[in-house]
Order: sequence, then C-alpha cells, then structure tokens
Amino acid sequence: MVDRELIRYYRARAAEYEQIYYRDKPGRRAELEAEGKRLEQLVTERTVLDIPCGTGYWLQRMSRTADHVVGADIAMEMIEQARDKTVSGPVDFVLSDLYSPAFAADSFDVIALGFWFSHHPHQSYNRLFDMITYPLRSSGLVWMIDNNPPAERPVFQSAGQDKHSNHYVRRYLEDDTEFTILKNYFTRDQLEAVFSPRFRIERLTCGRNYWSVVLAPK
Ligand SMILES: C[S@@+](CC[C@H](N)C(=O)[O-])C[C@H]1O[C@@H](n2cnc3c(N)ncnc32)[C@H](O)[C@@H]1O
Repeated sequence: MVDRELIRYYRARAAEYEQIYYRDKPGRRAELEAEGKRLEQLVTERTVLDIPCGTGYWLQRMSRTADHVVGADIAMEMIEQARDKTVSGPVDFVLSDLYSPAFAADSFDVIALGFWFSHHPHQSYNRLFDMITYPLRSSGLVWMIDNNPPAERPVFQSAGQDKHSNHYVRRYLEDDTEFTILKNYFTRDQLEAVFSPRFRIERLTCGRNYWSVVLAPK
C-alpha cells in the first residue's frame, strides 16, 4: 500500500510544497480561505488527527480553535516544516505511515485528510476508510479537501491510467526533477458514490478548484 514514488516525491518537495497555497490565483485563495473558516468551526474544542499533515498548513489553522491537534506524516522533511510553524494551541507530531498508524481506537473527534484522497488508489477505499474510522470517537467526523483539475493548471500533465482507472500525473520540482504520481479526480456524483456506503455525508462542497467533505461513519 505504501507508494514509494509518492513518498520520494513529497520528501523531495517538502521545502517548496507550501507554495501551492500562496499562488497569485484569487479564485483558489478565496476557496481555500472559505474552507479554512469552515474547518476552524468544525474543530472548535475538538481533538484532531491531521494525517498526513505535510507542512502543517491546515494544522496551523486548526490549532486556532481545536483543543489539541496531532500531526502525522511519513516524511520527516514534512514534519520539520510543520514544526517550524507558529501555532495557537497544543500540537504534537508523529512520524507515521497512514496505513499502519499507531493510534488507539476512540482517540479523536475529527480526522483531517488534506489533499490525500486523490492519492489513494480506487481499488482499496475500504482499507483507507478502516484506517480513518478506527481512531475516531463514536460521534467523530472525517474532513477532507482535495483538488479539482482546474486547481492543477498550468502544471497539469497527464501520464495515463492503470487497469483500475487510477490516473497518473507528471510533477516537477523547481530543479526540474520529474516524478510520476497517482492523482485521481472526482465529480460530485463519484464522491457521493464512493463515500455513501460507509459514511453519512454531512456536507459536500464542490468548488471550481477544490472539493471538500465532512463525513460521519455509519
Ligand atoms: C499532498 S501532501 C498533503 C499534506 C497536507 N495534508 C496538506 O493538505 O497540505 C501529501 C503528504 O502525504 C505524505 N505521505 C505520503 N505517503 C504517506 C503515507 N503512507 N503515510 C503518511 N503520510 C504519507 C507526504 O509526505 C505528504 O506530506
């Protein structure tokens, strides 16, 4: 399940990753800001697992209102970026593989997955859903945000599909190092069909650049 090429890509990209949030694209910035506000509200006085936390963009935001945020990522390079951030409340970091997490059952009120769902292969959603529901409290919620194709331009370069209809894209670092990584895109109908068997969809927001969802396990 661990995707070594994806990990290699993100480890190499850690120092430049967060530029995705600060591009001079008012439409994208407005959608991200609106989602940030909804997320702050969702996690107010909650205990949150942010996995994978990456450079801590959403973790920093959630720390404004959450009781406690645990950021977990497989890449120490990402966690180091996240640790450098100024946060507003208690946070901790764990070096952890999303698919073999070291978290006890019933530990968190919210599991946050920023820009992860698109990297998970179609053929094994149940494994991901098992992983994210296990550490959740019974009243807990899952939050996700991810890309729609317009958010990728002008860097969007398709590299084809595999037999499970997973889509691959080419990505380049600032020094032109090339990576090919799994990245899937979804319509609203596809998201509803994927989540509905296991979750009640509390909110599904499909913007031009991003989609986001709040899910309650059934
Ligand atoms: C697209 S970034 C998302 C970071 C953050 N959630 C955000 O929204 O900015 C993907 C992250 O997944 C991490 N990652 C990749 N494979 C992983 C795995 N098997 N377990 C945990 N983290 C992983 C990478 O190191 C990277 O930080």
